[in-house]
Amino acid sequence: MQLLDGSSCSEQIRQEIALKVDEIKSRGERVPHLAAVLVGNDGASQNYVAFKIKDCEQVGFNSTTIRMEETTTEQELLDKIAELNADDDIDGFIVQLPVPKHIDDNKVILAIDPRKDVDGFCPENVGNLSLGLPTFISATPNGIMELFRRYNIETEGKHCVVLGRSNIVGTPMAVLMSRNTNPGNATVTIAHSRTKNLKELCASADILIVAIGKTEFVTADMVKEGAVVIDVGQTRVPDSSKKSGFRNVGDVDFENVKDKCSYITYVTGGVGPMTRASLLQNTLKAHQRR
Ligand code: GUN
Repeated sequence: MQLLDGSSCSEQIRQEIALKVDEIKSRGERVPHLAAVLVGNDGASQNYVAFKIKDCEQVGFNSTTIRMEETTTEQELLDKIAELNADDDIDGFIVQLPVPKHIDDNKVILAIDPRKDVDGFCPENVGNLSLGLPTFISATPNGIMELFRRYNIETEGKHCVVLGRSNIVGTPMAVLMSRNTNPGNATVTIAHSRTKNLKELCASADILIVAIGKTEFVTADMVKEGAVVIDVGQTRVPDSSKKSGFRNVGDVDFENVKDKCSYITYVTGGVGPMTRASLLQNTLKAHQRR
């Protein structure tokens, strides 16, 4: 079993981006600028945004965090998005999801200028992804593809089961893995809560990508000997032995699954850092496109 080390891979990507930022600076040009909008007080979202901003600092990007109250109205958020769309100094921005329940996240996504949608969530970018046209690819699936690329993992002709059909991870992941690219060219099945014979299906996967949001859902009997297992799940579980009061648990029962795998990611240092690195790549791309 080989652990897919998202921390070291993402560090490599950050170094590559930092070099590009040095070149931009040496030409006397404006550096890329990412803004992140955080609405409300969700602890995990606050952490994610703080990490994204820290990454920007590390590679030499400018960054702005916009914090808005839990009670922010939908219109106030849409006004802020319009402001960011019009701000020439900002190359790309994200609105961290989930937003509070009284705000329609689809309206939020539709309001973002596709040229600044570095999350790749809006219809134009999702459509371009489906058509194989240049786009901003959603950060988590893109980060997983980058792991396959950097570890030279063979995907062609393999059976890839994607567990979960979210707009952010499962659906774009399935599109990417089925495209005529390398990595890609896999035979893809999307599985979800209504899928029958889920255990057998997962156990038939050469590559199993799990983004279902249920802690330790994938057990050893669901994994084929030699499979590649990618765990996207990250749920906070109370743990009084930790200073933070919680620990992150993945969607895969790592301890019991790992010895069956050829490659596997762990809940920390796996997909998460790769997602963050992809956001930096997309921000650089947004800057280059202008
Ligand atoms: N919430 C969970 N993942 C993401 C992401 O990739 N982008 C945004 N904006 N919110 C998220």
